[in-house]
Amino acid sequence: MAAGKGTRMKSRLPKVLHKLAGRSLLQHVLDTAAALQARRVVVITGHEAQQVEANVSLAGTDLHFVRQEPQLGTGHAMQQAAPALPEDGMVVVLSGDVPLIQAETLRALLAIGGADKLALLTIALADPTGYGRVIRQAGAADGAVQAIVEQKDATPDQRQIREIYSGIMAVPSRLLKPWLSRLDNKNAQAEYYLTDVVKMAVADGVPVLAHRIEDALQVAGINSPAQLAELERAHQLRLAQSLMAQGVRLADPARLDVRGELHCAQDVEIDVNCIFEGRVELGEGVKVGAHCVIGNARIAAGAVIQPFTRIEGEDLGVEVGADARIGPFARLRPGARLGPDVHIGNFVEVKNAELAQGAKANHLAYIGDATVGERVNYGAGSITANYDGANKHKTHIGDDVHIGSNCLLVAPVRIGAGGTVGGGSVITQDTEPGVLTLARARQVTIANWQRPQKKK
Ligand code: UD1
Ligand code: CA
Repeated sequence: MAAGKGTRMKSRLPKVLHKLAGRSLLQHVLDTAAALQARRVVVITGHEAQQVEANVSLAGTDLHFVRQEPQLGTGHAMQQAAPALPEDGMVVVLSGDVPLIQAETLRALLAIGGADKLALLTIALADPTGYGRVIRQAGAADGAVQAIVEQKDATPDQRQIREIYSGIMAVPSRLLKPWLSRLDNKNAQAEYYLTDVVKMAVADGVPVLAHRIEDALQVAGINSPAQLAELERAHQLRLAQSLMAQGVRLADPARLDVRGELHCAQDVEIDVNCIFEGRVELGEGVKVGAHCVIGNARIAAGAVIQPFTRIEGEDLGVEVGADARIGPFARLRPGARLGPDVHIGNFVEVKNAELAQGAKANHLAYIGDATVGERVNYGAGSITANYDGANKHKTHIGDDVHIGSNCLLVAPVRIGAGGTVGGGSVITQDTEPGVLTLARARQVTIANWQRPQKKK
């Protein structure tokens, strides 16, 4: 269910498209549904339906969208979905704004439910305000479930109940469909409540089972920016704890953000305030300094990423070779492929370029659309001029080349192996191996030159 407006987010962006750990709330839920190997996933959209539909995807799963206009409650939402649900099998109802539910929990819910039962996911909360209360027979904590009563319909006594309905249920399609067609909106909010199916199940003699969990994060819903931030931190802390349990040494588990998948080999160390996006692999003994933002990259064993480095692999990825030293203040862009022992220093940008073993660019440089040979030394302030205003061209630098400071390599161009390019050169033609090339004005001296004087 993802049709609601999410007024309390006070945002133009639909609530379910707000991100937690780098993925939209709804995408989290869909990925979990996919992990359950759902035969079909039906998303109920309404508020900003087009935008929501365009911004989620599910590879390899039969994904359907159903529109709910206007939004008259959760029961009404499910009525719209009913035609898209198969006649047989189990329906698992999820909320687009409850992102951290785990597939394992849903499997347990399905296991206690089954072909002729209604299974509800519940939890006891210290503060149950706002939620539907689980009414059990004779008020006993393990009594049979009789109904779910919404906050606004509950009596003062019922409001004392701390066990709440999470918004997640598993129900056979065969039973659900006729119940949905019998829902009404005779309640305090004049809404069609999905939760009224509980009373119908009881009346029909269908067992209602509650799977009560303890982990509040899994059923936490997002209604406001504050709740989103709180859930983000709680989720990140869990990720940090699981990394530490694998042996990763985090300077501070409260100052790490993983917005994707972070895979770490043994003896990885990560300093404070690093952000990992997409898929990042850190090899054995990799050290990441403070304040690095690293996305879609493979960093081989022993490499050191110094503070304030930005690695943005995006679609092409970035590879950093074994024992390389990157940063501080380096920028590696898509398609940067660095071999072993490469050094990239402060304010050096590398894009779509291969640097072979031992190549170094230590300060203030740009290397784009290039191949750089082994042991090349690339001087401060030098750049590959790879763009002629219309097309990108390649620069090839052979092994053991020395590029002086402030050189301009105007692509397409090749620098022969072992060659040296003098500082300040503008290189527009290929150079032979082993030679010194200078391409700059000769120094001249004008002996009796007078500086202009200010007129009186
Ligand atoms: C619902 C339950 C309540 C439960 C709570 C858990 C009902 C009647 N009540 O509360 O027992 O404790 O969830 O969070 O079901 N939605 C639609 N269309 C609508 C209304 C809602 O798609 O017309 C979607 C929302 O986008 C959201 C989900 O359903 O993803 C839950 O909606 P929300 O309004 O938060 O739930 P309540 O009805 O307040
Ligand atoms: Ca509501």
